[in-house]
Amino acid sequence: MKIYFLLYSLLLLFVNLGKAQKSLPIVPMPAQDNSIAKAPPFILNKQSTIYYNNASLKKDVQYLQQKLLLSYGLQIKAKQLIGENKTTTTANNIFVEIGPKNWMSGKGESYYNIRALANNIIIIVQHPKGFFYSIQSILQCIKKTNNENAVEIAAMSFSDYPRFSYRGMHLDVARHFMPVEVIKKYIDYLALYKFNTFHWHLTDDQGWRIEIKKYPLLTSIGGYRNGTVIGAYPGIGNDSLVHGGFYTQQQIKQIVKYAADRYITIIPEIEMPGHASAAIAAYPQLSCFPNQATQYPKECVWAGSSTGKQVQQTWGVFEDVFCPTTYTFNFLQDVIDEVVILFPGTYIHIGGDECPKEAWKKSAFCQQLIKTNHLKDEHGLQSYFIGKMEKYINKKGKKIIGWDEILEGGLAPNATVMSWRGEEGGIAAAKQQHHVIMTPSSNCYFDHSQSKLEDSVTIGGFLPIKDVYDYEPIPTVLNTKEATYILGAQANVWTEYIANTNKLQYMIFPRIAALAEVLWTPKEKKNWPNFELRLPALFDYYKANKISYSTAIFD
Ligand code: ACM
Repeated sequence: MKIYFLLYSLLLLFVNLGKAQKSLPIVPMPAQDNSIAKAPPFILNKQSTIYYNNASLKKDVQYLQQKLLLSYGLQIKAKQLIGENKTTTTANNIFVEIGPKNWMSGKGESYYNIRALANNIIIIVQHPKGFFYSIQSILQCIKKTNNENAVEIAAMSFSDYPRFSYRGMHLDVARHFMPVEVIKKYIDYLALYKFNTFHWHLTDDQGWRIEIKKYPLLTSIGGYRNGTVIGAYPGIGNDSLVHGGFYTQQQIKQIVKYAADRYITIIPEIEMPGHASAAIAAYPQLSCFPNQATQYPKECVWAGSSTGKQVQQTWGVFEDVFCPTTYTFNFLQDVIDEVVILFPGTYIHIGGDECPKEAWKKSAFCQQLIKTNHLKDEHGLQSYFIGKMEKYINKKGKKIIGWDEILEGGLAPNATVMSWRGEEGGIAAAKQQHHVIMTPSSNCYFDHSQSKLEDSVTIGGFLPIKDVYDYEPIPTVLNTKEATYILGAQANVWTEYIANTNKLQYMIFPRIAALAEVLWTPKEKKNWPNFELRLPALFDYYKANKISYSTAIFD
């Protein structure tokens, strides 16, 4: 692989030398000029100090100190400057300043200006968030030197800020549970590439992963399944191993803080009305047919008891969904009561996708409900369901996001739509003046193979990194006003075939870097040949940090 890698890099260099300016190895590419300044690198050594002019920067100064210590063994001092003139201090220091109000106005909390030249690094921001983003850029430009007490940081001088306000990565922990430490690592990956939103898919047919104190069976029963199909659906058997786990509310608070410290908001997803098998296994009255045993595809092998309600052991879409009874709504509202306390962000994701209507069609209760409420059909009932939950969630001071199926039967008044079945749902929602997150499976599904020669099992599909890079979240059919409803985009990581950290890393790296550039870098600055030139530095970083990544780009 090494020799291919070298040849490939050389080839790229020759092919692109004419086209692409030599750039700093920063991903996402900064908004303003990031060509390597013609100056010697900045040297950071054990005598260096990080000076900062405002106490609000202290937490992020400590974050940088920690990174330098852990990755390079460099213990760097820090000091808040109060009324002192920075020019009087010695060289090789880092200065971080919250800029004067009038100069910074309109630049936004994420903005930073950095000048890293031979003597000093000066970073000017409006808000600590901008400093945090500048740290991510710096960390990508550090090189070890022959002297173990010093590192060099490439000379640079530019301003930077994001294109989109929503820069998201999703992770499904229902199909395969991921321990707290893995979630923290995942959040670190998001931070590295300046993502600001982690969409945490916490409930599904194969497991309920969030402790709800009022309904303990959700996790004690719904958190575990008796087995998992082996291999690609429908599988060649069942591993008959109990799989599961859940996050206690204490752990969730820890993770929410960990993310907030990295300027990442977590959006929890509590799926409804479909993908509800795990909740129904715990509380069968949530089903329209509580006494019917859980159905599963005949071609799949089942492990353990198959009587009564069970957590699903295979993948797909299941007909047993939440029944829109008073019992169900009280249950879901109680769940929301606990969820909103744990997650301080604006949004609660209520799912809404892939809800088969068979159970509602067969249920006399549902048919009567449709009549009483003058609903058109079961799609109207889906809209009624989502609308009722939206009202409750809005009353709690939060907004809902749902997958694009929430457009069926009419959109709830304040809902944000996540467009996954292509862009049509997002376009329709933007035209109705609803906010939209673009996450079309064609460009944003990181569970799809990134290579035609993929040798591990994936859900299928083909999403090479170039297709991620080329994605443009604003559809051309939208006019300027409608386009403002597109908040950004997100990649989704469904974990049917992702059961461990290595595979998780392999599926997201390096595609996450390509998406980061879609979301951060100004459209006119995006440049695939230039991105390719920066990939070898990315791969070096992954190697140094023991991160698995796909080399599909060499295929
Ligand atoms: C989805 O992929 N079912 C949103």
